[in-house]
Amino acid sequence: MEFKDLISHCKEYGFIYPSSEIYDGLSAVYDYGPYGSELKNNIKSYWWKSMVQMHENIVGIDAAIFMHPKTWKASGHVDAFNDPLVDNKDSKKRYRADQLIEGYAEKIEEKINKDVAKAKEKFGTSFDEVMYRATNPRVLERQAEIDTVLKRMNEALKVGDMEGLKQVIEDCEIPCPESGSRNWTEVRQFNLMFNTQLGNIAGEEGKLYLRPETAQGIFVNFLNVQKSTRQKIPFGIAQIGKAFRNEIVARQFIFRMREFEQMEMQFFIRPGEEMKWYEYWKETRLKWHLALGTPSSKLRFHDHDNLAHYANAAVDIQYEFPFGFRELEGIHSRTNFDLSQHQELSGKKLQYFDPELNENYVPYVVETSIGCDRMFLAMISESLQEEKVPDADGNESTRTVMKLHPCLAPNKVAVLPLLKNKEELTKAASDVFDTLKKKFLCQYDEKDAIGRRYRRQDAIGTPYCVTIDFETLENNTVTLRDRDTLQQIRVSIDEISKIVGEKVDYSNII
Ligand code: GAP
Repeated sequence: MEFKDLISHCKEYGFIYPSSEIYDGLSAVYDYGPYGSELKNNIKSYWWKSMVQMHENIVGIDAAIFMHPKTWKASGHVDAFNDPLVDNKDSKKRYRADQLIEGYAEKIEEKINKDVAKAKEKFGTSFDEVMYRATNPRVLERQAEIDTVLKRMNEALKVGDMEGLKQVIEDCEIPCPESGSRNWTEVRQFNLMFNTQLGNIAGEEGKLYLRPETAQGIFVNFLNVQKSTRQKIPFGIAQIGKAFRNEIVARQFIFRMREFEQMEMQFFIRPGEEMKWYEYWKETRLKWHLALGTPSSKLRFHDHDNLAHYANAAVDIQYEFPFGFRELEGIHSRTNFDLSQHQELSGKKLQYFDPELNENYVPYVVETSIGCDRMFLAMISESLQEEKVPDADGNESTRTVMKLHPCLAPNKVAVLPLLKNKEELTKAASDVFDTLKKKFLCQYDEKDAIGRRYRRQDAIGTPYCVTIDFETLENNTVTLRDRDTLQQIRVSIDEISKIVGEKVDYSNII
């Protein structure tokens, strides 16, 4: 399925709408519809259960979005949370300089892939791709160009050399993707934090930021939580909440938004133990993704080329979105940077007394940070598909189905009377619905032919359809249709909730 069809599907079936659409929308801001909010809540539940419920040494909090402005000075976001911005003077379009350069490198990569595909076609089964990539002079030349350009970019980014970035754009003669013009402004730093003003304080003093990460709400509460829960190091604090970034270029639907939600966990550890816990969380988080049935070929680790100002090691878990492998989650070893900075700026001690070592120290932190919306997009990308299935007459037809993991599916069961105008069927179906809705989110649907109703449920990922027919009236049995296998089995009404319950039970995946 093409990406634009996925976006249309999300709108048509009530998963995601553009924000304030009647006013032509607001760029990179989206609203979740009825099924979207259920799916998003289920993703959050899976994360919370895995991280908080399953770990005795991880507790959750819900900190405010607004924080004292000094928080962001201490964390480094006021001075260093910047992206390199460049404008095209002709098209008046604004870009991230690093993304323009990466786009240039991707185009060369595409040329390499084309050469490889051509050679494959020419040489057939005797073709050795690894050997070809390692020895073909044209491929090597192109790869060397990619490496040089990206190396120059990374070096410039590392030291904040905006002139260096501009020089790369000029040397590579990168055109504006919109107009083809090469008439660029200077590259300059652009801070990604949104700000607003406290009502009762004028000027800089009253300047507030919308948090660009949830993590700082955890850092400033570190001692409060440790004292009130009597946790011993190592322990973690988890949080799910909104974050805001004034992204220069926000594209690819909900992949890069200006208002989004993060699920973050800060794990407080002894100094010197960070690499052990970094490896532990890398592995644990990858398992979390795999448990949902995402194939391992579509997930990979990618070490950061440029470390954020707070990190001494960082890796992304990338997922293969319809537009390529991109960051889904980050695992960062943040040292004691944040706690030390807050200690310095607030003048309050943020130390832990380790009874085993009999010493005080500022703990180190390994964090796991995943965007809820990105996870949502990964799940929709993975599960939404078109497939050929036999229809009621035995002919082949195409259905659109969302094969979401049953734990994540918005509705768990649809209850469908075979016919709408037979009161005895609709009454029996309503009774089944009233019983099941106490346990699961269910849907009652009597409109249209049964085949169309099945298709509607497939399109929103409902794992089971229960159909009430004339046999139900005789022996209290129904047909239970499985979304993925299309198998229909006859079961007694009393059995439905056990069968569905087992399938949607989070203990299958946590
Ligand atoms: N506390 C660390 C932190 O915020 P990050 O790599 O900047 O690290 C973590 O963000 C995760 O948040 C990313 O892996 C991504 O899933 C999500 N994220 C970041 N910016 C986003 C945006 N503009 N839109 C949607 N999700 C975003």
